[in-house]
Amino acid sequence: PSAVIVAIDGPSGTGKSSTSKAVAAKLGLRYLDTGAQYRAITWWMITNGIDTDDADAVALAAGKPAIVSGTDPAGPTITVDGVDASGPIRTREVTSKVSAVSAVPEVRALITDLQRSIAAAAEGGIVVEGRDIGTTVLPDADLKVFLTASPEARAARRSGELRGKEAADVAATKEALIKRDAADSGRKTSPLAKAADAVEVDTTELTLEQVIECVVTLVEEKR
Ligand code: C5P
Repeated sequence: PSAVIVAIDGPSGTGKSSTSKAVAAKLGLRYLDTGAQYRAITWWMITNGIDTDDADAVALAAGKPAIVSGTDPAGPTITVDGVDASGPIRTREVTSKVSAVSAVPEVRALITDLQRSIAAAAEGGIVVEGRDIGTTVLPDADLKVFLTASPEARAARRSGELRGKEAADVAATKEALIKRDAADSGRKTSPLAKAADAVEVDTTELTLEQVIECVVTLVEEKR
C-alpha cells in the first residue's frame, strides 16, 4: 500500500492522542503530536523569561529553540535544544499559556513548516493530530477526521488523565478546557476548525476501542 497521510483534528479531551497513536501503531504508520510542538515552544518561552502574553516578544523569539519530534507511535519523543521536554510540556502552567503562544502567526508559520517536512519524510505514511491539520497544514491529506465529544465527557476524560499528577476536579478542568477551546477556535490564524471534507466522529458515547476501530476502517477504505 502507498504512503497514507491521515489528519486527526479536534478539541482536547476527545481521545485524539490515544486514538491517533493506536491507529498509527495498528497500521504501521508514523505519528506526530503537533500539540506537543506548540507546548514545547511555550515551555521554552517560559523557561527563557519571555512574557507569553507579549505577542511581539514571542514572535521575535520564535525561531530560537530547536524543536525535534520523534514519530514512533510506541514512544513519541520531543526535545528542545537537545533536552527531553516530554514531562515539562504537560504541566498546568504550559497548558494555560499554550493558546496565547500558538495564536502568534510567526510561531504557527515555523511550526507548520516543521510539520510539513516531517510528514513529507514519513515513509509509509503518518497520522498527524492537532487543530488545523486538515484545514491548513496538510489540506491534501488522504483522510481527515474531526473528533468531537460533549464538554462533560471531555472534562471527565481530562481529569482522569491528570489524576495523580496534578489534582484537578472535573468542574475546574471543564472550565479551563472550554476557555482553551474558545481561544483556539477564535484566533485569526488557522483556528481549530473542521475541514469541509473531514469525517466527523462524535466520541461521547464510544469507548476508545470503538473510536480506534472506526478510524482504522476509514483509513483502510482510503488505501
Ligand atoms: O493537543 P494539545 O492539547 O496538546 O494542544 C495544545 C495546544 O496547542 C492547543 O490548545 C492549541 O493552542 C495548540 N495547537 C494548535 N494547533 C495544533 C495543535 C495544537 O494551535 N495543530
